[in-house]
Amino acid sequence: MKEKLETILSAGVAEIEQCNDLKTLDEVRVKFLGKQGELIAILRNLKELSPEERKEVGSLANNARAELENKIAEKTARLEEEKLEKEMESEAIDITMPGKGTKKGALHPLTRFNNKFMDICVAMGFTVIQGPEIDTDYYNFEALNVPKNHPARDMQDSLYITDNILMRTQTSNMQVHAMEMLKPPFKIVCPGRVYRNDDDSSHSPIFNQFEALVVDENVGLKDLMKMIETILKKLYGENVKMRVRPSYFPFTEPSIEIDATCQICGGKGCTICKGTGFSEVFAAGVVNPKVLEMSGIDSKKYSGFAFGPGIDRSVMVTNKIPNIKYLFKNDMRFLKQMR
Ligand code: DAH
Repeated sequence: MKEKLETILSAGVAEIEQCNDLKTLDEVRVKFLGKQGELIAILRNLKELSPEERKEVGSLANNARAELENKIAEKTARLEEEKLEKEMESEAIDITMPGKGTKKGALHPLTRFNNKFMDICVAMGFTVIQGPEIDTDYYNFEALNVPKNHPARDMQDSLYITDNILMRTQTSNMQVHAMEMLKPPFKIVCPGRVYRNDDDSSHSPIFNQFEALVVDENVGLKDLMKMIETILKKLYGENVKMRVRPSYFPFTEPSIEIDATCQICGGKGCTICKGTGFSEVFAAGVVNPKVLEMSGIDSKKYSGFAFGPGIDRSVMVTNKIPNIKYLFKNDMRFLKQMR
């Protein structure tokens, strides 16, 4: 019996030593220490031995079991460590390799122009406001002295949602909202998207405008011109020249349009400015007293002036963009060129 135990022990130790992975080691454990194993069989049969033999064989068998258990525990620890080392080796990162690098984004040319214009206006004391792109006929037309069937509506063919609700055709709707909300004196500027039933290479159903409105005592055309001159110098530099043409808008009286030195040719004349050396930048005017009154402002005490540049055209001209649609397509090839 003693010899048998020694054979089992040395066979077990040898097999444990030879194991190269945890799975085989577990099979060896089951073979030598499992319920079907020879060692357990010996322990189970102890009761059939004489008391002296039982004591001796019992303690030898228990020692053999303890030794095999120890060897298995040691081997398990060693194999686990090896496995971990192998994993770390295969997943190692070479920190001397160059990184992947992140792609750099850029602001859209419309956003850049927008930010620049807003900064100039805020520095001049304007408050930036925003308002609805879907509005009623009243705010977009009626309250701006453009009643139903007025011929001026032809210039701004609209996208209607119902007979009375439309996508705003101009940020001028914000003049009315501002006059209703604020107590004069005030200076507001509102950047925003506007919508018209227009679609060709220089017109898009969606485009962008600003609306600036000043309401105060004794302000008029002279103040409007001075302010626009200041803004143009900040936008395009001290040497910019400005040209004023008479115009017509039902909500301003008088109404004007302002041209500035063409930013492509610097005033020499080119195809973009059709040889004139100027390009149109602002529509503007002194607020029609009727418009002030309709929004509850006393036109005997207060007067106002307003201007509203379309920014897409300016961005197209300065960046030599041939078709307005490029501004809205989100084509990466175009956007990369605009960085
Ligand atoms: N809203 C007008 C348009 O889209 C432009 C305009 C004219 C704005 C005169 C103004 C203004 O603020 O005073 O055609």
